[in-house]
Amino acid sequence: MVVFLHIIQHSTVSFMLSLRSLTKSYSTTAGTTRILHDCTADIPRGTMTAIIGKSGSGKSTLLNILSGIDTPDSGSLLINDISLHSITEQERTAFRRKHIGFIFQFFHLLPGLTALENVLFQQELQGRLSEHDIRHAYHVLESIEIAHKAEYYPAQLSGGEQQRVAIARALIHKPDLLLADEPTGNLDPDTANIIFNLLVHRIRADKQTAIIVTHSMEIAERADRIYEMRHGTLVALQ
Ligand SMILES: Nc1ncnc2c1ncn2[C@@H]1O[C@H](COP(=O)(O)OP(=O)(O)OP(=O)(O)O)[C@@H](O)[C@H]1O
Ligand SMILES: [Mg+2]
Repeated sequence: MVVFLHIIQHSTVSFMLSLRSLTKSYSTTAGTTRILHDCTADIPRGTMTAIIGKSGSGKSTLLNILSGIDTPDSGSLLINDISLHSITEQERTAFRRKHIGFIFQFFHLLPGLTALENVLFQQELQGRLSEHDIRHAYHVLESIEIAHKAEYYPAQLSGGEQQRVAIARALIHKPDLLLADEPTGNLDPDTANIIFNLLVHRIRADKQTAIIVTHSMEIAERADRIYEMRHGTLVALQ
């Protein structure tokens, strides 16, 4: 009976991500360093999770593994019940494009494309750009208050403006999972606050599952759960 109840309870919880004992080491000429060691967590769908931790503790490494950009040495990772590292590279790329949005710490905008073109770039690659897509892109840019610079190139935008474009690019396809690595880390505190508020508003409005790496405890406290990356392991703080 107890086992039966356990199964029922377990099956009603819908986890967007399940990480089990993820490990990762890097080898350089100086030797091998273990970065992640036994990273385990379940992230429920529709929640916002913050990851804090010292510089060099492995937060970006973990986020890169969660997005499929990098692979773990061992352990398992389920996203939407798909084992991300057991599928082919091609399938992983397709999965990433469809289900994951990534906001990088240093924007990573393409310099030769305007703000609008950057936002639409992935969709254009897939050859399915319609009038509706362009209107939708403007709408997303509007929602984070940067539509008036849609025709500007990255070099003509401030850091905060570039980050807004990077956020719009990550959100345009309404990803099931949003991964953000220090999304406001490069901005002054006031701009960071404004942009973070807009980001949280979008995440909550679209009921997205989001994992945000941040150095700011103030930002982390806005999340539903906080983990600290400590000695290569995720420690739940709340
Ligand atoms: N490709 C690589 N080769 C070797 N070592 C690496 C590589 N990538 C990361 N590392 C090492 O892994 C450790 C963790 O790096 P990571 O970027 O994950 O830290 P972080 O927690 O995101 O730090 P920060 O808060 O400064 O961004 C660092 O010590 C770094 O030197
Ligand atoms: Mg980092």
